[in-house]
Amino acid sequence: MRSAAERFGVLPRPSLDYTPEVAEATAPLYERVKHVVPAIEWPFHAPYVHAINELKKTRNAVILAHNYMTPEIYHCVADFVGDSLQLARLAAKTDAAVIVQGGVHFMAETSKVLAPEKTVLIPDGKAGCSLAASITAEDIRLLRRRYPGVPIVAYVNTSAEVKAEVDMTCTSSNAIEVVESFGAPRVICLPDQYLARWVAANTTVKILTWKGSCEVHERFTGAELSAYRDDDPGVTIIAHPECPPDVIGASDFAGSTAKMIDYVKALPEGSRVVLVTECSMADNVAVEAPQVEFVRPCNLCPHMKRITLPKILDALLEMKEEVLVDPAVGLRAKAAVERMIHLKN
Ligand code: 13P
Ligand code: SF4
Repeated sequence: MRSAAERFGVLPRPSLDYTPEVAEATAPLYERVKHVVPAIEWPFHAPYVHAINELKKTRNAVILAHNYMTPEIYHCVADFVGDSLQLARLAAKTDAAVIVQGGVHFMAETSKVLAPEKTVLIPDGKAGCSLAASITAEDIRLLRRRYPGVPIVAYVNTSAEVKAEVDMTCTSSNAIEVVESFGAPRVICLPDQYLARWVAANTTVKILTWKGSCEVHERFTGAELSAYRDDDPGVTIIAHPECPPDVIGASDFAGSTAKMIDYVKALPEGSRVVLVTECSMADNVAVEAPQVEFVRPCNLCPHMKRITLPKILDALLEMKEEVLVDPAVGLRAKAAVERMIHLKN
């Protein structure tokens, strides 16, 4: 098969000078991020932002950006932003010919699985995920033999090969509904042991799991959060369900990245919030929830941070790195993802 570069052609590199025209064209975008991007940095970002936004039209491309992308990506070049579930739904619906995934590899694969006719690019193919790396399709086949008849749910943070072997996928925004949808007494929910424990604490279904974990969220500790609470008893603590149970126990609310954002936006003026998740999210929400003050424990996802404006520009110019999924695997993975998407949630 011809590569995306051969099908679409490679385009010449545009000028990346910070000219008065670029400054004027990007000024409204800078307004959106000026609270989190220092003025001294904008002349570096602006030419990329301008060039990327022009190239998207030439390529008939959209950029899907996860909530963990840096603010200059999230607010200045993304066409759609959201959590894993929202991005999966948008990938299935877009009319664009090309999807550039601002996120990690499993997210780009999910887009390809849902929209196999589209060209899906990831600006850095090494943007992985410790959860996706923790389990293989062969592991799922072994579990099937060991637990015949027990439904298997995979978190979307898994490879297409793993998705192809399971009954349904889930995200952190719908994991409880997905697990309960089988009406079964036992369900295997993998690979995130902490997400599974959080689901188990919120359902009567018996949950079996796997030993995977997110290298970013497992670094938070309950003791760290108690210290924030001791310093400021009025603080609101919101955690992602990939965190260990003592962290969730010390929080006021747990939910997917999108649910965390909705929660923050609804808080009253003067609220102080600890967002227990990847660092960039507080920067992104700070733009949309100016009434809230963020206390920022900061754990970066090194995989998400591989995606940068210069790499997005290269992806659109050179049509790389194309994400491909074996069509037979893709069809089976798609069925598992679509069962989730069509669940009412
Ligand atoms: P969400 O599904 O909440 O967006 O989370 C994805 C992820 O990778 C969190 O670490
Ligand atoms: Fe994976 Fe954790 Fe990074 Fe999310 S934050 S992509 S779960 S390693």
